[in-house]
Amino acid sequence: MKKQMKLGLSMRYLGYHLGSWRHPEVQPDGTSDFRCFLDVVQTAERAKFDMVFLADGIGIRSNDEPRGSLARSRQNVELEPLTLLSALAPMTRSIGLVATASTTYNEPYHIARKYGSLDQISSGRAGWNVVTSWSDQEAWNFNRSKHLSYETRYERAEEFVDVVTGLWDSWDQDAFVHDKEAGIFYDESKLHVLGHAGKHFSVRGPLSVRRSPQGRPILVQAGTSEVGQRIAAQHCDAIFAAKHDLHDARSYYSSVKSRMPAFGRRPEDLVIMVGLTTVVGRTRQEAKAKHEQLEGLIDPLVGLSLLYRSFGDLSDLPLDGPVPEPLAGHGGLQSSARLYYDLAIKNGWTIRQLYTKIGMAQEHKTVVGTAGDVVDEMEAWVDAGAADGFNVTPTHLPHGIDDFVEFVVPELRRRGRFRHEYEGLTLRENLGLRVPTSRYAEKSAVA
Ligand SMILES: Cc1cc2nc3c(=O)[nH]c(=O)nc-3n(C[C@H](O)[C@H](O)[C@H](O)COP(=O)(O)O)c2cc1C
Repeated sequence: MKKQMKLGLSMRYLGYHLGSWRHPEVQPDGTSDFRCFLDVVQTAERAKFDMVFLADGIGIRSNDEPRGSLARSRQNVELEPLTLLSALAPMTRSIGLVATASTTYNEPYHIARKYGSLDQISSGRAGWNVVTSWSDQEAWNFNRSKHLSYETRYERAEEFVDVVTGLWDSWDQDAFVHDKEAGIFYDESKLHVLGHAGKHFSVRGPLSVRRSPQGRPILVQAGTSEVGQRIAAQHCDAIFAAKHDLHDARSYYSSVKSRMPAFGRRPEDLVIMVGLTTVVGRTRQEAKAKHEQLEGLIDPLVGLSLLYRSFGDLSDLPLDGPVPEPLAGHGGLQSSARLYYDLAIKNGWTIRQLYTKIGMAQEHKTVVGTAGDVVDEMEAWVDAGAADGFNVTPTHLPHGIDDFVEFVVPELRRRGRFRHEYEGLTLRENLGLRVPTSRYAEKSAVA
């Protein structure tokens, strides 16, 4: 039996390519246009994708470095993810709706309540991508002059997730009896008050939202550090990983999954989805031509701004010269800086080649070719134990998803790798994941 793949669509900024807004087929103001998102989500749902995914940062993450780059970039205005997904929920039936939210600039009660509500509105299709944020620009919007240290953010994140999942267990599934005759709204024995008092948070609870139709919204994580992997192994249902190299992806996959038994979880309780950008054509020549058109759209200033956070200002260096070491003591996106540098060294790329390659799909794996080429690669990764599925990170939308659905999905189905129909009603069911047990049920079972 061939392993089935899970598929997500990551749709922030309507595409990952740095110059996507300049593509002749792209609506440049689409990131603020609800109808553009509705169009791509409905396409993904027709193709039976597991979920759509919205990455997020809470602010414009640029100091306009190098000067002039921001005015040439598409990374400025957008719609707030939970608001957007709440609007998309009643316009869809089966596809999962996953939004990013920060543990650094929220309170756990807010997050538990908002995602709990999206889960009710969508009948069990909500998911939370847990991030800690990483830029000073976000800190400036939340009463701080600098973002918190890496260690503090992750320490806070671990406690935050514990509180949120505790709040989601406030009510047992069958707590609401609604007995009109006896006048009983809920069964008192099925309400649990969290009473959390920790280093970062003091939260009494209970949550004012009933238990999720899927037990709780799914939890997603993206970091690859030691703490990031631990949080994923302990709590998460899915990982969105940025990996280019099959061997690296395989060791990451087994590293995360091997940590799970220590937390009483099975490796199959977590789905690892690797970011995948495809440029597909009916022939390889057609795909190559599409790729070359995209490569020509990146303005050098925008390209250098992509590298700024990892390498500092490279504008004085020759664009066709070698890539220097990443900045020392870099506390933000550690895994990204290392990934960029390793790629440049391994492939002998110049600065221009690095930003052109990375700018195609940020840090995600890219395949340019026919549907057969793309599916060969996807199968190789899944069969090697490097991924359970892919989060498609299109260069530009809607065409990136249109092409994937027209060419790649039928080929996946022909090879018996992807569903024809949704298996279940909730996101958790479609991902093939167990409904988590309430922490209070576990306690009473032990008692
Ligand atoms: C594929 C991927 C997607 C991410 N998406 C977001 C995001 O939407 N918002 C955010 O603030 N951070 C995002 N991050 C950053 C991570 O949450 C994390 O902070 C970062 O990778 C540094 O942690 P690490 O050293 O554990 O990798 C993403 C990272 C990766 C690899």
